[in-house]
Amino acid sequence: MTTVYLNGQFLALEEARIPVMDRGFLFGDGVYEVIPVYDRQLFRLHAHLARLQDSLDGIRLENPHPPAEWETLILRIVESAEWPDQGIYLQVTRGSGPRDHAFPKIVQPTVFILPMQLSPPAAEAVEQGVSAITSRDNRWLRCDLKVTSLLPNVLLRQLSVDANCAETILIRDGQLIEGSASSVFIVQDGMLLAPPKSNLMLPGITYDVVLELAAAAAMPHQVRPISETELRQASEIWLTSSTKEVMAVTELDGQSVGTGQPGPLFRQMHADYQAFKHRIMRRKSAA
Ligand code: PDD
Repeated sequence: MTTVYLNGQFLALEEARIPVMDRGFLFGDGVYEVIPVYDRQLFRLHAHLARLQDSLDGIRLENPHPPAEWETLILRIVESAEWPDQGIYLQVTRGSGPRDHAFPKIVQPTVFILPMQLSPPAAEAVEQGVSAITSRDNRWLRCDLKVTSLLPNVLLRQLSVDANCAETILIRDGQLIEGSASSVFIVQDGMLLAPPKSNLMLPGITYDVVLELAAAAAMPHQVRPISETELRQASEIWLTSSTKEVMAVTELDGQSVGTGQPGPLFRQMHADYQAFKHRIMRRKSAA
């Protein structure tokens, strides 16, 4: 049985109900986070809670819980779930009200926490890399907010599903932005490149971890705008996210990336990322 948290109660997933007038349902008026958990240890909890606060500020919704309360609620869900490795999904919506675009006068937010099983990427995908396609980024101008209104991301991701690919990489005004549900890095002449954070991309928590690991390993790296041409000529392309960790893209729009195999910098980063995860598990406390 999966236990979830909904508005002050811990209950079976099957018993969790929200009113049909919830603005999350009617308007996608809410924000969310996905927090990885390894061996029941929360990965970068405080960074996820800080981003949650930024998303709430961005949609003008008061945070229903201070960080310590969030941690208590999340830990209870983590402990009750059957799997040691989890993705904790949490969502806050602007609650129920009459169907009116304008905010309700009195807001009672809906707070939901759901544990999901987290499986590491398949060994074959790590060894061989994955395929991706590109698409024009047609999302709004606040992609830095982690909002539940994900229809543009859903439609963009489906383009790659239809093409039998793992991700859709988004280009806006000739620049690499991110994936439909991941951050994107490239390698050019032995240098790891990451697009800079802006209102057009989600500030990925894994993105930060990867840049920290690159610095710790003295891997040459730079954060700067990356053009579509540079993306297409890259010797390596990586995807990162809380659920994908670090993955190599070895085929883009049907063309091989570099040698067509995951590159040397990817192999090093993948190993460093696994070591970092294991250090967290051993420490038995949030990193
Ligand atoms: N997605 N960019 C977008 C658009 C994303 O949706 C995600 C994550 C990322 C990577 O962020 P992080 O490293 O913090 O997971 C970048 C999550 C996993 C999701 O929506 O399921």
